[in-house]
Amino acid sequence: MIKNKMIWFFGLSGAGKTTLAKEVLQEYKERNIPTILLDGDVLRNGINKNLGFSKDDRSENVRRIAEICKLMLQANVVPIVAAITPYESDRTAVENIIGKNNILLVHVKCPINICEERDPKGLYALARKGKIKNFTGISDAYEETKMASITIDTEKNNINNSISKLLNFLSTTTLIN
Ligand code: PPS
Ligand code: MG
Repeated sequence: MIKNKMIWFFGLSGAGKTTLAKEVLQEYKERNIPTILLDGDVLRNGINKNLGFSKDDRSENVRRIAEICKLMLQANVVPIVAAITPYESDRTAVENIIGKNNILLVHVKCPINICEERDPKGLYALARKGKIKNFTGISDAYEETKMASITIDTEKNNINNSISKLLNFLSTTTLIN
């Protein structure tokens, strides 16, 4: 397993970021590697409580998470992030804060119509009704990416396949530098 890098999952709501992040967290824990899960959705109830979903607030949300990760890495803890991170400029900003060699960007890819079908929290339905404004992929941007270290397609792969692809990637020693 790669220990000297953090992992940042990004993708649409309902794509599977949290699910995959929790699996990887468990894998690190089983290997007694100090790790921490930072989930955008969860941090928005605490440290990022004062932020909404405007472009600026999303940037600030992601920036704060990255700065926390930088501190964690300095303390030899492997941070695992799950956050939509919809703007390519913010993905670049994250990479700059953490350092290109210290981060793996995992694109959790799933078409919006599939995420909407899944709708695990019922948020897409609310967004369609206009009850949630600026909802990513519906009434707000989700930019495509050229930055992924690996892309996990959760439409084509079930959870088990996605996890094994990811773990296989994480154990490739060639990526350690
Ligand atoms: S971002 O864009 O990276 O700052 O977003 P993030 O911190 O990951 O927060 C996404 C979670 O917030 C819930 N939620 C919304 N998402 C997108 N757009 C809008 N308007 C919105 N409102 C609430 C949603 O549950 C996201 O969680 P996930 O786990 O991605 O489904
Ligand atoms: Mg989530």
